[in-house]
Formats: sequence, C-alpha cells, structure tokens
Amino acid sequence: MVEKQDKIAWISLHRPKKLNALNAALLEELQLLFTSLEKDNSIRVIILTGSGEKAFVAGADIAEFAHFDPIQGEALSRKGQNAVFDRIAHSTKPVIAAINGFALGGGLELALSCHLRIASTNARMGLPETSLGVIPGYGGTQRLAQLIGRGRATELILSCRMMEANEALAVGLVSQVVPQEELLATAATLADKIMQNSSNAMAHGLQAINAAYQEGVNGFEEEIKRFGQCFGHEEFKEGTQAFLAKRKANF
Ligand code: COA
Repeated sequence: MVEKQDKIAWISLHRPKKLNALNAALLEELQLLFTSLEKDNSIRVIILTGSGEKAFVAGADIAEFAHFDPIQGEALSRKGQNAVFDRIAHSTKPVIAAINGFALGGGLELALSCHLRIASTNARMGLPETSLGVIPGYGGTQRLAQLIGRGRATELILSCRMMEANEALAVGLVSQVVPQEELLATAATLADKIMQNSSNAMAHGLQAINAAYQEGVNGFEEEIKRFGQCFGHEEFKEGTQAFLAKRKANF
C-alpha cells in the first residue's frame, strides 16, 4: 500500500473489487502507516490515491456497518475520526489527496482530511450518506463546510448529488484538475515544489492553520507562538541567509 521514493510516500488504497471502500482492515492500515510516516525522517510529503482508474474511495464499507446499532455506530465514527481522519489532518507533513475517480462518503472525507486535493477529470465527489439513512461520520459535516462554505456543503449533504471535477475546482474543493493519466505526475510536481521549502516551517504552518478549527484554541495566538518558534530552527537560518546571499536555500 505504500511506496517511498525521493522523500515522497505514495499510499495507494487498494481494494479494487469494492472500489477501495474503507473497511476496518484498510482503516487500521492507514492508522499504522500515518503513525510510522510521521516519525520517518526520510519522508517529507505524503500522497494518497486510490488504486485502479475508477475510484479514489467509494466510501466507508456499507456492508460492514449495515447491521450496527447506535452504540456501534457512534464507536465507528469516533474511532475512525480519532485514529485516522484527525491523524491525517494533524500530520506535520503535507498530505496530498490525488483523487482519481469516485470520492464518496468516507472517501471524500478522507480527501477532506488531507491538506491539499487535486483531481482527475473523471473524479466525482459527494457525501451520499443521507441516502443510506445516516450522516457523514468521518468529519464531513465539518470539513466540507469549512472548505466550500456552509450553504454548498448543506446542499451536497442533503441532495446526495455528486460533484464533477470542474465544479469542485470552481468551489475550491480541489486546487487542480488534470486528465487521469497526468494525475500522479501532477501530484509529484506539487510535492517537489513543496519540498523546496522548509519542512519545519510547513509543520508549524499546518498546525497554525488547523488551530482555527480547534475549540478553545486561539488561532492568532497559535500563529504568534509558532512564528517565534521558527526563529530557533536551523532552517530559518538557512532560508534567511540564502536569501541575503542571493542563493537558493538548501533545506
Ligand atoms: N461499501 C461497500 N461496497 C461498496 C461500496 C461501499 N461504499 N461502494 C462500492 N462497493 C462495492 C459494490 O457493492 C460492488 O460490489 P459487488 O461487485 O460485490 O457487488 C463493487 O463495489 C462495485 O461497485 P458497483 O456499485 O457495482 O459499481 P458502479 O460503477 O455501478 O457504481 C458507485 C459506483 C460508486 C456509484 C456505487 O458503487 C456506489 O454508489 N457506492 C456507494 C457510495 C456510497 O454511498 N458511499 C458512502 C458510504 S458511507
């Protein structure tokens, strides 16, 4: 499921017969992977995609939870959010979702927990949970509204319609749309561009951005503290000295 190359970890969700639907085993794998990648100094950017040409992830595995009661339902959502989706959102390394097809339900929520999203022209995105009698449970009601606005998110959640790639681009759900055969190369180019910059500053930047959405945390205060912390890191010295010496920084 993971390949490491040139400081990039490529995670490919692979459950082709079920359109990469997230079952307990896949979620467990994701949890373990993100825990170990966080500590892996050889990795600077993580790219998440779906195997095959049809789906990124077609949702949480409906067959797995269809018989659950309310207590099991709540536990499923809580465990998923804590162990996987929040872990990705709070990763100190940039995570890019390369959405190569259907990203529905838990699949779109997975992409939403990533820091950046790019999509292929055939991608279709939506939160169809209310058609199943349930609501998004892996952060979708919160993160979709934060990203594209409450009105648009409500419309998608209540209508269960799928958004096409170009509409997703227009509303800021994804930042680039490219033909499917160019998607991974585009993700790699984006990762390379990111890796020219200070990893330490990026880690602080990601946490400061997240602070806006954390209860009881003042985002501006968090920014001030993290801004200060950057000054104590060697990458700050390198970045500023390189600028003053009119050379490229080497991070
Ligand atoms: N959970 C479990 N199995 C799923 C799944 C999911 N979320 N999404 C797809 N699958 C399975 C299908 O049951 C089917 O399995 P089978 O071949 O054993 O019958 C297989 O993946 C292929 O899907 P299929 O529906 O035949 O493909 P399609 O091209 O006709 O339709 C979708 C594609 C994505 C439109 C359709 O699969 C779908 O609506 N999936 C569910 C989306 C959803 O509601 N997600 C939110 C879950 S919370």
